[in-house]
Amino acid sequence: MNDFAPVPDFLYGTAWKEDRTPSLTGLALRMGFRGIDTANQRRHYFEAGVGQGLAAAYSAGVVTRAALFLQTKFTSRSGQDHRLPYEPSADLSTQVAQSLASSLEHLGTDYVDSYVLHGPASGYGWTDADDEVWAAMVKEREAGRTRFLGVSNVSLRHLQQMAAAHADGPDFVQNRCYARLGWDRAVRAFCKEREIIYQGFSLLTANPEVLRHPLVAGLAARGKATPAQIVFRFAQAVGMLPLTGTSDPEHMEQDLASRGLALSAESVQAIESLAG
Ligand SMILES: NC(=O)c1ccc[n+]([C@@H]2O[C@H](COP(=O)([O-])OP(=O)(O)OC[C@H]3O[C@@H](n4cnc5c(N)ncnc54)[C@H](OP(=O)(O)O)[C@@H]3O)[C@@H](O)[C@H]2O)c1
Repeated sequence: MNDFAPVPDFLYGTAWKEDRTPSLTGLALRMGFRGIDTANQRRHYFEAGVGQGLAAAYSAGVVTRAALFLQTKFTSRSGQDHRLPYEPSADLSTQVAQSLASSLEHLGTDYVDSYVLHGPASGYGWTDADDEVWAAMVKEREAGRTRFLGVSNVSLRHLQQMAAAHADGPDFVQNRCYARLGWDRAVRAFCKEREIIYQGFSLLTANPEVLRHPLVAGLAARGKATPAQIVFRFAQAVGMLPLTGTSDPEHMEQDLASRGLALSAESVQAIESLAG
């Protein structure tokens, strides 16, 4: 019987790290992250390198598999380069099965905690192809190869159409979070209604105007914190599960420490409507 990790309150993202992926994954674990986000998409992630970092951390006694929350993704053909984790001629259900089997091998485990559809096939709406992929992902959950399921890069329309087509909805939504779109307010409201956990990425890089805004700078100065920490604390205060992909140990420490910052309800409200 497996002893599973809780859903963490911060995820360490492993995109764009190439050869530094094993060492940065290991560093993040030593610094205290217990949630790791990756994807079987060699174009932006080196998932096997994440596995190497995990293996080194396990043997050094930093963490056990059971204490970790591992999340990876199924990326369709259009999001991949030539380094595919499945046969491109196979049907989509087979591609999902092949991609997850390859992820489990890369990560040296027999289950992931969360399996995420990296993006729907079309930006305009949920399609039959997405139905097929999602049904295959649900089967993987039923087979015990993932505990939870998620979708990424989705609009409210995608989510509504998906909900109309599937009784089994996502446990997670992972989106780029722009302050100028009310921090993805409509999607967050949908998630809240259905008890879906909203994972926000690019909280810093998508929102430079927030980081230099006098309100945020003032809160940071008064709280002896950085503007980045205020943004992460805000994200958690409104119920988001934030991601950070920092390569800097000091930023790792600061990002995790943001959980302990005090931020009043008024400040949260002010940041919520700062840009949109
Ligand atoms: N689902 C998707 O399609 C998708 C797309 C993009 C990303 N993601 C996931 O989200 C993760 C995070 O990506 P991201 O787009 O949010 O960007 P990120 O990789 O977290 O980059 C953040 C940038 O901000 C800088 N930074 C400055 N101060 C920082 C601080 N205190 N804490 C953290 N960073 C600080 C970082 O530089 P330093 O390294 O010097 O700190 C870095 O250049 C990715 O690794 C990936 O797992 C998912």
